[in-house]
Amino acid sequence: MTNNAASNKVTRAVRIAGTGSYVPEKILTNHDLEKMVDTSDDWITSRTGIKERRIAGADEFTSHMASHAGRRALDQAGIRGEDIDLIIVATITPDTLTPATACYVQKSLDAYRAVAFDISAACSGFLYALEFARVAIACGTFKNALIIGAEKLSAFVNWTDRDTCVLFGDGAGAAVLTSQDDDNAAGTILSTHLGTDGKQAAILNIPGGGSACPITLQNAEQHLAALAMQGREVFKCAVNAMRQAAEIAIEEAGLTADDISLVIPHQANLRIIDAITDRLKIEKNRVFINLDKYGNTSAAAVAIALDEANRSAAVKPGDRILLVAFGAGLTWASAVIEW
Ligand code: ACO
Repeated sequence: MTNNAASNKVTRAVRIAGTGSYVPEKILTNHDLEKMVDTSDDWITSRTGIKERRIAGADEFTSHMASHAGRRALDQAGIRGEDIDLIIVATITPDTLTPATACYVQKSLDAYRAVAFDISAACSGFLYALEFARVAIACGTFKNALIIGAEKLSAFVNWTDRDTCVLFGDGAGAAVLTSQDDDNAAGTILSTHLGTDGKQAAILNIPGGGSACPITLQNAEQHLAALAMQGREVFKCAVNAMRQAAEIAIEEAGLTADDISLVIPHQANLRIIDAITDRLKIEKNRVFINLDKYGNTSAAAVAIALDEANRSAAVKPGDRILLVAFGAGLTWASAVIEW
């Protein structure tokens, strides 16, 4: 799966200077879902590990969540919106098809010097943004980048389809990347790896709402603008791609799995995470999990987990953290960070 992939042993240092996250207040539990579709807490918990997820309000958009998370990351980095010169929002649930959600975030954060645009790489989006911001900073074009993974998936879920509606939630996570021009090595990106396999695009997609299938009065009731997935196929591909991506990023960093203090994987399914970490021989106490609280928040998942880990005792200075994700496209991505 890695024949068209890009890996990097990083040569010029770029670091994460701050992280932030935001989730909506409203909690939708598995028991709530039992009243909406033919499912059970027991089925959802045993198949996925998810217990509840957050749902954004009708007036709360992807850009609002992205801005909240971004503001927290700026605060932690000790910089202001005007210091940012690049904003990348990774999302498959933008406020509008155009302009980009990043433009609304730029306005909200008064980051008027920043170039702002979105990328669409599904659940791998935050790590794609990390790599492209890292390269842009490393080559000297930009100094401070704000990268954000943000999703309002509740607006793109068919709430009558039990195969998918139990899996997803809303939220946002962010990180400030900066050139490493001081003695503070915390958050240094050691290696990255990205890959894509467009041959598998059909197993996980939102078929309608784009130019190939505009939503019309005639097809609106077919839920074409909702996530559709061949769950078992996606599961197999996710395990293989994430394991390989993890191994490559660890090797590019000059490390072994034993050197990794914490794995922060895409939070889609506990069984996928267990399968990957078992194959890498990484014990459960070295794996960060929050999918029980938030479900799969696609591009936001790794970003929210990174922020929660960063603000807890889960990471200490000097720890090597492996980030690894997988999503529609198919896409996959990984990075090793020294905290
Ligand atoms: N409640 C109760 N029963 C259900 C539910 C539900 N919510 N959903 C499906 N079922 C039923 C099915 O109909 C099926 O019934 P049948 O045997 O009578 O036909 C049975 O449960 C088993 O279904 P499977 O699909 O085989 O269940 P599986 O164990 O594969 O779990 C799941 C399904 C959780 C979706 C799993 O395949 C999975 O996690 N796949 C990967 C998802 C993922 O990682 N996505 C990541 C990317 S998302 C992105 O990029 C936006």
